[in-house]
Amino acid sequence: MRYPHTRKYIRISVIIILLMGIYFYADYTHEKRELFRNTVVKLTPNCEQKLKKYALTTGNYYSTPYRQQNAENPVLRTPYSAEDIRAIQRGCNIIDDTQGQYAESALERWNATRYIRGNHTSCDHCHQGAGDKQGTNGDRLIGSLSLGASWSNGGDAYDRFTGLLLPFELRQMQCFINSSNGYKPNIFDDVIRDITAYSRFLSGAVNLQTQHRYPEQGIDEIPASATFKRGDDYVRGVQLYQQKCAHCHGKNGLGTVTEGKVIYPAVAGPNSFNRQSRNYFRFVSTILPGFICRNMPLGEENTLTNQDCRDIAFYIGNMPRPAGDREGPVSAAWQQIMMHTLPPLVELINLELINVELPHEEQANNISTQ
Ligand code: HEC
Ligand code: HEC
Repeated sequence: MRYPHTRKYIRISVIIILLMGIYFYADYTHEKRELFRNTVVKLTPNCEQKLKKYALTTGNYYSTPYRQQNAENPVLRTPYSAEDIRAIQRGCNIIDDTQGQYAESALERWNATRYIRGNHTSCDHCHQGAGDKQGTNGDRLIGSLSLGASWSNGGDAYDRFTGLLLPFELRQMQCFINSSNGYKPNIFDDVIRDITAYSRFLSGAVNLQTQHRYPEQGIDEIPASATFKRGDDYVRGVQLYQQKCAHCHGKNGLGTVTEGKVIYPAVAGPNSFNRQSRNYFRFVSTILPGFICRNMPLGEENTLTNQDCRDIAFYIGNMPRPAGDREGPVSAAWQQIMMHTLPPLVELINLELINVELPHEEQANNISTQ
């Protein structure tokens, strides 16, 4: 026993070396992030257009062209620093292209996809127009899930679903967890910071006031009482879905991907929102119909009746999708089985429902009563 402590020393040294390795690795990634925070941002085509329209530049003050466009007097606001501008630009990129389809490296989106399980979700799929959907004359649209208006109102100051006072950052997290079927980013993550910077900028750019509720915030919700009170109907839903939506979102709602790029997102299946998202009809029945009526079918918005939208949403709610984060392992496993067995089964049976026509009177009736 000449060296009685050798093994102990070796063990301790291995632990120390490991810890040092972790420390240096963390230091290295930290430095890389810091470097990246200072790098010029390559904008997506949509963000390039949007931020140019709002004249985002450095200077002695910021004045939004949106007011002049609407024949109002310009207001001078505190200027944005070069650092602010880069955060706003990255925020826009993340909203517009969360998956980084236009990015050269995943770091360009702060690897936002590590908080998302599937590979379709982009915030812009629901928060359209890069979170700032507008009509042809620059008019802000009711129920368009505007992020600028949401920031102005402090997120959704009092959240009726959780009963909590949720700041804007926590509302983003909810969307990462449920609408994007993913995980919770830290409140101080660059992803959250940049999205907040961008949303705050949007709010100023269209000249919103804080603590106001504007109609473009959230969804123009459709309760059952605002329909023909026929009840939500699966059969009508499946017909309408196949006529109006399937050519983009797919017969089974699995979306359309071309050359690795998501062209039309999934509305069901593993890449879609989960069962604890407010978009899920059986969780909150008023939101998805409101989204559909105001924002879909893309290019023909506001053409469906309230009853149509509820029927379609009811049908979409019946398609298999991931379980929510608090539903437990049995539900999660069951949903996995359903998601992977139902679409091929539907294919096999090939429901004839798809070709059933609605009676004409009923359609005319639908439209006149709206
Ligand atoms: C599948 C659709 C969908 C996707 C994808 C989605 N959201 Fe949402 N988002 C919603 C809905 C629905 C609400 C809730 C509106 C309500 O409660 O009235 C919402 C609410 C929000 C709110 C709070 C808005 C408010 O005014 O209260 C924020 C912030 C937000 N989302 C950010 C994001 C971010 C960031 C992403 C991308 C990671 C994202 N969302 C992805 C549908 C979506
Ligand atoms: C012309 C193609 C097209 C048609 C038709 C269409 N959509 Fe969409 N839909 C899109 C695109 C594209 C998006 C993503 C948003 C964007 O890029 O503006 C989207 C987004 C959505 C979303 C939110 C995204 C998500 O992940 O859930 C839902 C829900 C949706 N559509 C439902 C419908 C329904 C229901 C219909 C039929 C009434 C319909 N869509 C018809 C193209 C279409």
